[in-house]
Amino acid sequence: MTTEPHANADAAHRLAPAAEARHLCKVFPGRQGAIAVDDVSFVVPTGASLGIVGESGSGKTTVARMLTGLERPTSGEVFLSGAPAPADRVRRARTIQMVFQDPYASLDPRQTVGAGLTELLRLHEVDRDRDRCRERAAELLDQVGLDDRIAGSRPGQLSGGQRQRVAIARALVPQPAVLVLDEAVSALDVSVQAQVLGLLADLREQLAVSYVFVTHDLAVAQQITDEVLVMHRGRVVEQGPTDRVLSTPEHPYTRGLLDAVPRAGWWPRGAAASPL
Ligand SMILES: Nc1ncnc2c1ncn2[C@@H]1O[C@H](COP(=O)(O)OP(=O)(O)O)[C@@H](O)[C@H]1O
Ligand SMILES: [Mg+2]
Repeated sequence: MTTEPHANADAAHRLAPAAEARHLCKVFPGRQGAIAVDDVSFVVPTGASLGIVGESGSGKTTVARMLTGLERPTSGEVFLSGAPAPADRVRRARTIQMVFQDPYASLDPRQTVGAGLTELLRLHEVDRDRDRCRERAAELLDQVGLDDRIAGSRPGQLSGGQRQRVAIARALVPQPAVLVLDEAVSALDVSVQAQVLGLLADLREQLAVSYVFVTHDLAVAQQITDEVLVMHRGRVVEQGPTDRVLSTPEHPYTRGLLDAVPRAGWWPRGAAASPL
């Protein structure tokens, strides 16, 4: 074991969590002091998958947007790989990327998939060479299970599942340490949803990318997360390993959420155990 200072600094950097939220608060102007997010803290270790669950309006999206820099916290801080998150959008986007529920809204309907990927590769200065950009775009499409020929398609020509795969490929362009997925599979049919969740599990293994997985769907959280935060009215009411929280919830609100899901047949096939 060496005691050289630079070696220690390296080790500290490697051990720093991929993302960390410290006491995040958000009060939207004009909401008469109603607090959308109230003192939310959590750590996302490198390679981990953290779920944020809770009913609609509980503050999940606002937390996700503060993490990625789309929303400025009223107070509190975000750290990425142990350092304060850069305020600059593009610099921040190189470390943390967001995938939304509706990729239609974030894709330019006139731009082909390939042109969109090339534009992003250039923005993030991955490569400026046209041919190499095209190769890298093809690699990214392959990584998300799409045929190269999709590069010539426009968003309107794709299925919902294909569009969400394109959104994931776009998010992977700068090789981010963290993907924040906000209800990213919620609009998909169950079978397509299962395929995209399978893809995300594979990518996490291949790329050692960390996930913050925002979902109102507890079955999805069970499938894709190791730890989970339960939010209620802007606050974290319960936090812990997903299996434990969903099998033996401690907070009455979490129990209520679990009671609200259909009793029979909702639990995903292949899940370790049903909590019900
Ligand atoms: N831009 C905004 N302006 C005002 N209020 C907002 C804004 N975004 C979200 N809110 C409010 O903040 C609360 C939390 O919303 P949100 O984070 O979207 O919850 P969730 O994603 O859990 O449904 C809600 O009461 C919502 O109405
Ligand atoms: Mg939301």
